[in-house]
Amino acid sequence: MKWLFLIYSFVYCLCKIEGAYLEGNKSLSNWDVFSRIPGKIKDGSNADVADDHYHLYLEDIELMDSLGVNSYRFSISWSRVLPRGRFGEINPVGIQFYNKLIDALLLKGITPFVTLNHYDIPQELEDRYGAWLNKQIQEDFGYFAEVCFKAFGDRVKYWTTFNEPNVMVNGGYRTGIYPPNHCSYDNCTAGDSAIEPYIAAHNVILSHATAADIYRRKYQVNQGGSIGIVLCSYWYEPYDDVPADQWAAQRALAFDLAWFLDPIIYGEYPPEMREILGLRLPTFSPEEKKKLESKLDFIGVNHYSTLYAKDCMFSPCNLGTSNGDLLAVLTGLRGGLPIGSPTAMPTFYVVPQGMEKMVMYFKERYNNTPMFITENGYAQGSSDKIPMKDLLNDTGRVDYLRSYLDSLSRAMRKGADVRGYFVWSLIDNFEWLYGYTLRFGLYYVDYSTLKRTPKLSAQWYQQFLHSPKTLKKQMPSESKLQHLPS
Ligand SMILES: *[C@@H]1O[C@H](CO)[C@@H](O)[C@H](O)[C@H]1NC(C)=O
Ligand SMILES: *[C@@H]1O[C@H](CO)[C@@H](O)[C@H](O)[C@H]1NC(C)=O
Ligand SMILES: *[C@@H]1O[C@H](CO)[C@@H](O)[C@H](O)[C@H]1NC(C)=O
Repeated sequence: MKWLFLIYSFVYCLCKIEGAYLEGNKSLSNWDVFSRIPGKIKDGSNADVADDHYHLYLEDIELMDSLGVNSYRFSISWSRVLPRGRFGEINPVGIQFYNKLIDALLLKGITPFVTLNHYDIPQELEDRYGAWLNKQIQEDFGYFAEVCFKAFGDRVKYWTTFNEPNVMVNGGYRTGIYPPNHCSYDNCTAGDSAIEPYIAAHNVILSHATAADIYRRKYQVNQGGSIGIVLCSYWYEPYDDVPADQWAAQRALAFDLAWFLDPIIYGEYPPEMREILGLRLPTFSPEEKKKLESKLDFIGVNHYSTLYAKDCMFSPCNLGTSNGDLLAVLTGLRGGLPIGSPTAMPTFYVVPQGMEKMVMYFKERYNNTPMFITENGYAQGSSDKIPMKDLLNDTGRVDYLRSYLDSLSRAMRKGADVRGYFVWSLIDNFEWLYGYTLRFGLYYVDYSTLKRTPKLSAQWYQQFLHSPKTLKKQMPSESKLQHLPS
């Protein structure tokens, strides 16, 4: 594989930047439907228009080009390409949009790095058979993946099947804060938080395997690309330096990450989970194990922050709704003090050394499988009261990116096989449950005019990318140790 040094922003149906939610014969996604339910999104917004990247993509590619990035990570909206999943026709308008986007990127020498699923699915799959709770979705996902390999794989060489399925599954089926709002706590009306997250994850893992298997058998040799999966990767520190909390931190990593990666890489759920969950964890049949042999080519790491893990197995504590099975409390606070500077995103504290530790964990547990840092970035709060000029002067983001890149370079010096790095994100965007109240972009977006304005961090990142110390695109990997960012 070649070296990439990169930026990340989002192309997305509803949820991030794409907008045009019903244009070009796109169908409603589950997030289009969900964001219309009053009270679900913090500022009552939706992503019908978002950044209107659907129409402004050429302008956005100019921004990428002026920054000097050499790759763009985006996701394909399933409901744009296959409005009815495998129950209807391929939508030529959707295919055409992504073709235009990919061609325009390549014309500027920008490598497309493409995600097949970022939370959103055609609503019809939810209505018809319950989406991730039903094994039928494996076939549907495989079909969608193959349509994309066939249409775009001559030009797309980096595929990821899922973005943050660990977040999707916990939000959708444990806490119920994401569609389809399943949970079994106080005010939940449907679901079983003790069982459904594991069923949904099982179907995600096997959907990954189905897509990877199709790619390996039918496309990879001719197209010459690679395929991986992206997980939301918090690092966890023991709350106190005692064995119980050290074990709790190990458990937290297993329940978050190894949950998906152990089956994909080793064919089994992690021992840390099997020990606690027993028969609540599904098992893989011999045919499913065979499919899992297609594994992955790289791990995508979305890393932002670090939390403490406090044991509740040996000393009882109030577990709350989200971490019950883990028997640990995950928190950014100890004795009232935050683990790092807070940001506008409640659980994202600035803890740069977590990046090095996270990457080293993947290196050790997965035998130095190649990694991409597929997201890393800093949230600013946004409201009418905060003047634009303050949002443009994002010194906090510059400090964050600099310190996290330093930490990443330490892991790389220790031999971690990291192939690229993407900032989240190019432009401010619709931030899921937070709507437009958080800003992650290197470029500020005025949502009334859709005008993009560079923040201080855009200038900084441009200089960083042009610095002689920074990895340049397509450097042979042998020279990586001599050209690290510092
Ligand atoms: C959308 O699909 C309908 C048929 O279902 C077709 O008549 C129409 O031309 C399509 N729209 C576009 C923009 O292709
Ligand atoms: C459940 O709903 C009631 C009434 O709306 C509310 O007071 C309570 O805080 C809710 N509980 C949770 C855990 O959301
Ligand atoms: C930007 O913010 C920093 C503090 O974070 C301040 O020192 C500096 O003067 C500000 N610059 C502008 C142009 O406002």
